[in-house]
Amino acid sequence: MRFREYEPQKDRKAAHRIWMEIGWLEKGKEEIHDLFVGAGRALVADIEGEPECMVTTVPGTMRYLQSDLLISVVTSVTTSRVARKRGLAKRLAARAIAVDAAGGALVSGLSMFEQGFYDLLGFGTGVYEHQVSFDPALLNVDVRPRLPRRLTLDDWAMIHASRLARHRGHGACNLTPPELTRAEMQWTANGFGLGYCDGPNGELTHHFWCHVKDVEHGPYQISWMAYQTPEQFLELMGLLKSLGDQVWLVKMQEPHGIQLQSLLSQPFKRDQVSRDSKFESGIRASAYWQMRICNLPGCLEHTHLMGPTVRFNLRLSDPIERFLDDDAPWHGVAGEYVVTLGPESGARRGQDDTLPTLTASVGAFTRLWLGVCPATGLAITDDLRGPHELLEELDRVLCLPTPGPDWGF
Ligand SMILES: CC(C)(COP(=O)(O)OP(=O)(O)OC[C@H]1O[C@@H](n2cnc3c(N)ncnc32)[C@H](O)[C@@H]1OP(=O)(O)O)[C@@H](O)C(=O)NCCC(=O)NCCS
Repeated sequence: MRFREYEPQKDRKAAHRIWMEIGWLEKGKEEIHDLFVGAGRALVADIEGEPECMVTTVPGTMRYLQSDLLISVVTSVTTSRVARKRGLAKRLAARAIAVDAAGGALVSGLSMFEQGFYDLLGFGTGVYEHQVSFDPALLNVDVRPRLPRRLTLDDWAMIHASRLARHRGHGACNLTPPELTRAEMQWTANGFGLGYCDGPNGELTHHFWCHVKDVEHGPYQISWMAYQTPEQFLELMGLLKSLGDQVWLVKMQEPHGIQLQSLLSQPFKRDQVSRDSKFESGIRASAYWQMRICNLPGCLEHTHLMGPTVRFNLRLSDPIERFLDDDAPWHGVAGEYVVTLGPESGARRGQDDTLPTLTASVGAFTRLWLGVCPATGLAITDDLRGPHELLEELDRVLCLPTPGPDWGF
């Protein structure tokens, strides 16, 4: 068994086979797969000279309050039918994370297929995301949208730039390679976009990209929405409303910082009368993304909190270690640190006997640091322990906006 970089010429057929075996690739879409894989780094594990496991990662940034941190996002982990349950996926994913962490990524992120698997690599689960399904005709939006610009698959570069320039809140991620947006636009059926080019040089300032199986009545699934100002957001919602004479249901992820239910008329009645239909309205919550810190001092250097400063010893465990070979370029973040959290934060290796001690896994500490859950809550359900006074102080100091990547990965 050998881990190595993916070589497109040599490996693409085997990579297609893996993806076809897991049901992620149909015949005729191989070039989209190549685009997706080519957008970032790909590692493969060989068995008898053929890749049977592949992991892809993509570089980007993650916003922490006002700062942007380098992130590496694991965009796929795949093992062929013949090579399951040999530890390939965990070891190759650990390797990919190690390579990117050694290259400067301070954080790693991903979407999980199920709870528990990536916890083994030190990931901690994010907040609930809300998928809102609604009848666009029932939107309470007064804005009369201007005539939008039609966006097509050919507009991928402009669309990607618009995504990168969008309003971003705490936790929002930008995945840097434009090819990724191009591939995402091509994956889905009947994709189309609508938007407005209000930038000083005609840049696309706000838009949504949508895909739909039944074009006539929907449901229409918004793949993403990008805007820079509240007015632009409302104009896009007005645009969705303008489709409401024909489109019976729109599904979209709730933007962080906005409660979409406030824009819907009679949501409870609508949820009840549409129950069990193809056009069922409602709000579904699920916590599917995960993150982990890959460089503690690096992350804390960018952490500027409001309010008082707290100092403590941190005894950090990192389960990723056991999946990394000795020659890996990085071996996780386990160790003893003295941590400061406040307007200026930091972490240095060592211990200070005058300070209280927090003991945590890297996944639990990442959740605490991001503001997914308060310390007192994590101490009940996750791997995080400390004196009660310290936990309560952390609750006060780490009072953060709800974090969210706002980028489907
Ligand atoms: C998920 C997938 C990559 C795992 O590949 P794999 O090479 O078999 O994985 P590994 O051998 O490293 O790990 C499997 C182990 O993890 C365990 N595991 C699986 N799901 C788990 C979970 N939710 N929590 C904890 N452990 C879990 C398995 O029981 C197995 O343990 P065992 O070997 O002790 O029996 C593979 O099933 C696959 O390609 N699935 C389809 C694509 C997919 O969903 N990828 C993940 C995208 S986020």
